[in-house]
Amino acid sequence: MFGEGASTAEVMIVGEQPGDQEDRQGHPFVGPAGRLLNGMLERAGIDREKTYVTNAVKHFKWTPDARGKRRIHKTPNGSEIRACHPWLEAEISAVKPRVILALGATAAKALFGPQARVTKERGRAIATEHADAGFITMHPSAALRAPPENRDATLGAIENDLRAVARYLRKTANGKR
Ligand code: URA
Repeated sequence: MFGEGASTAEVMIVGEQPGDQEDRQGHPFVGPAGRLLNGMLERAGIDREKTYVTNAVKHFKWTPDARGKRRIHKTPNGSEIRACHPWLEAEISAVKPRVILALGATAAKALFGPQARVTKERGRAIATEHADAGFITMHPSAALRAPPENRDATLGAIENDLRAVARYLRKTANGKR
């Protein structure tokens, strides 16, 4: 499954891989993580209409739960990230975003190399050949998986990182690609 959004998008948002809902519906970020993402983008002042949303890995990797009823997400490995890289590169070349934003470790490694670290590099502009600037934040599903008492803090941290992207876009608004 490939990404979606305006081919003139300013921001390319790269997630990990389609989830269960995305795989069933054939569109990226239409499940619970996508709904969280949409709310945070809006609050941070990033126009969803000016984003292109895609994933580092193009298939849903999963394992059945104990009762064989639900498909449980499995993290993709390095060779799966590498195998999907040509598609991601093709999307970047077609969209030419001003900002490329990695959600979580898989996307960060796919875009910025295996040494990329979410905790160390999140929330600030990073030099990249893919766009005028790269950014990293946590994946919204980190908030979904967090214990309830940590959920708001995780969402707040992601939203803060998205505000840094919005500030960058405003500051560089005249230098459109
Ligand atoms: N998580 C992702 O990383 N991508 C999606 O499309 C949905 C959930």
